[in-house]
Amino acid sequence: GSNLKVAILGFGTVGSSVARILCDLKPQGIELTHIYNRNISRKLADWVPCEVQWTEEVEDILASNVDVIIELVGGLDPAGSWVRRALEAGKSAVTANKKLIAFHGIELEKLARSKGGHLLYGAAVAGGIPVIPGLQQGLAGDQVMRIEGILNGTCNFILSKMEDGAEFGDVLQEAQALGYAEVDPTEDVDGYDARAKLVILSRLALRADLDPNQIPCRSIRDVSAIDFAYARELSCTIRQISRAEIRGANLATGDVLASVGPMLVPKASPLAWSRGTENTVLVGGKYGGDVVFSGHGAGGHPTAVAVVSDVISIAHGSRAVDLPSRKTTIGGEFLLRHSIR
Ligand code: HSE
Repeated sequence: GSNLKVAILGFGTVGSSVARILCDLKPQGIELTHIYNRNISRKLADWVPCEVQWTEEVEDILASNVDVIIELVGGLDPAGSWVRRALEAGKSAVTANKKLIAFHGIELEKLARSKGGHLLYGAAVAGGIPVIPGLQQGLAGDQVMRIEGILNGTCNFILSKMEDGAEFGDVLQEAQALGYAEVDPTEDVDGYDARAKLVILSRLALRADLDPNQIPCRSIRDVSAIDFAYARELSCTIRQISRAEIRGANLATGDVLASVGPMLVPKASPLAWSRGTENTVLVGGKYGGDVVFSGHGAGGHPTAVAVVSDVISIAHGSRAVDLPSRKTTIGGEFLLRHSIR
């Protein structure tokens, strides 16, 4: 029939949750046809319907009549070339790959458009919290001036535990054991994971084309117990904050100020809401004022919700947004701020 045929590439934490949700919810008009992973014998799950084809060859999927590939392998290569080839073949792609979208998203989105497919990446930022669809749809009628947020669950987990007296090294290991940290936890701790997410949010919210490598990033490694003691004196805590803001009065031409790093956050601020690995994103609009998104920003099921939602919106006819319309220069600042507007 006219079912949308979908393939999952990568049957890890998120991939298996996506399959689980598709099997449970059976969204109308969507049919899971393939699952790719290395060493599938390790992965085969008896609850996956037997019509689903398991394969160790992505080529099988690219050459098939699959309509949508769900890329959950991560990293630039080879995941990026699979997405590119699927789009070139007129297929659609859904991905949780923040690095790929931060570095190559604009080019891939243009490719998707020129071939009549869709590229959706709602799971790339803040997992199951609908920040990306919120920006693309719900806030399309505002002029966003500022985004700030907790975009990395691992850092939030580490800093919350340090606030209660734990040591950096011990909590990093705990975060890795929980499965939230990136394969290389440097990506989390030194801010590169959050930076990729900030680039994506800035593109959608501020229409800014930021080069990830130009955004100043400060590690949370240097935060120590004494910093938390000072923070407490000020009724603050310390969190890894990612922020991007249009500087100056002219929104059409203003530069963007962007940075990622540990900052003082008042305990009363929504940015102090995130517990453990949760994420919080505050969007400041010119007309609508502040909007706060909060919830689970990582983990199998929450991230899978965003993936499945994207597949559903392709099945229903997709969201579309304008591409960045201007070149942007970046300035950075790291301020210890007592108040967040
Ligand atoms: N390592 C990421 C985090 C996973 O800790 O937030 C979700 O992108």
